[in-house]
Amino acid sequence: MKKALITGITGQDGSFLTEFLLDKGYQVHGIVRRASTFNTDRIRHLYHDPHDPETRLFLHYGDVTDASGLRHVLEKVQPDEIYNLAAQSHVRVSFDQSEYTADVVATGALRVLEALRHHVHESGRAVRYYQAGSSEMFGAAPPPQSEGTAFYPRSPYAVAKVAAHWYGVNYREAYGLFVANGILFNHESERRGETFVTRKITRSLGRIKLGLMDKFYLGNLESRRDWGYAGDYVEAMWLMLQQEAAGDYVVATGEAHSVKEFLELAAEYAGVDWTKCVGTDPRYFRPTEVDSLCGDSSRARAKLGWKPKVSFPELVRKMVDCDMELARRERTLLAAGHAVHI
Ligand code: NAP
Ligand code: GDD
Repeated sequence: MKKALITGITGQDGSFLTEFLLDKGYQVHGIVRRASTFNTDRIRHLYHDPHDPETRLFLHYGDVTDASGLRHVLEKVQPDEIYNLAAQSHVRVSFDQSEYTADVVATGALRVLEALRHHVHESGRAVRYYQAGSSEMFGAAPPPQSEGTAFYPRSPYAVAKVAAHWYGVNYREAYGLFVANGILFNHESERRGETFVTRKITRSLGRIKLGLMDKFYLGNLESRRDWGYAGDYVEAMWLMLQQEAAGDYVVATGEAHSVKEFLELAAEYAGVDWTKCVGTDPRYFRPTEVDSLCGDSSRARAKLGWKPKVSFPELVRKMVDCDMELARRERTLLAAGHAVHI
């Protein structure tokens, strides 16, 4: 049975990747940050009592800012594949927490690579490594962006991701490690964090439709993103680690839409007049914006045989359907006198 170790297992992608790998028959180990509240909601449906002999999902406390802890987990788990998904992944927040973001995103990746190098050296085992790179690395470079496009990062988050990317390339070349850099364009889902723009829109529209709130505020509606479905994108991560040789791949739909187009489509499907309930708040603008991302994923399509399955309208509908249901549950709880945070 193959073993995978995932940092960032409690995030959107971590949860989809865990489902995907369990379905493939893997034993999956995840690194979870210690928090004062439960942060495992997204993988709760996959988790069983570790005493159950059938269980194939195991969680370990750890943090990519803690190098010795990472080494211990690697020694204990002896993984065949490592997926480094851990990140402070919010671009706007990275302007407020630049040093922290660099520590987690850039130096965090370096710490995982160092732990991997040490483990491979000590054990002689072959271990493959996936780095969660981002289309934000292209930043101001005009679309379409492909593996050959020069990076022009526009935020502390993006600069840190560029560093993590190059650490990966360097460790591949210097130590012969199997390191694959995925350069993934935006991917969303019903499990997307609620402060990213797509989910903020669908969550708010659901609540407005059911009378739980009147108005919400956004920033720049003109920026364009290449939005895919997260469930499709984790397959590409896995495929990158099944190749004979390690490489770097752009993963994208090749179709871009503005934030406004996402909002219009979601509002139309939800049956809400968005012009009456969306305001503008300057705090959601970024000091430097990434205006337009649209990926050319020809290489991934040709070499990995990967292609996206969920279309843009389907993605919007999935997210709106989910958030309508969540709003209905919130309304029921409120009616029963429970406190609901909105
Ligand atoms: P996400 O939902 O924000 O999840 C991030 C994960 O990283 C969470 O499990 C989080 O733990 C964990 N984490 C944060 N700081 C950590 C630390 N110091 N040590 C260990 N774990 C830590 O992000 P996502 O959307 O799933 O994205 C996964 C990865 O792909 C990220 O690296 C992101 O930057 C990258 N990426 C995402 C997209 C996209 O569109 N989604 C596109 C390109 C690249 P908690 O749950 O405890 O917060
Ligand atoms: N979050 C947010 N909130 N974004 C807003 C808002 C708002 O209220 N209003 C407008 N936007 C605009 C942002 O300025 C940006 O141009 C666009 O919506 C998308 O913002 P996000 O959803 O926060 O995503 P992102 O593109 O900045 O970053 C995501 O995708 C990257 C891949 O390109 C994150 O998942 C990153 O971790 C990921 O690397």
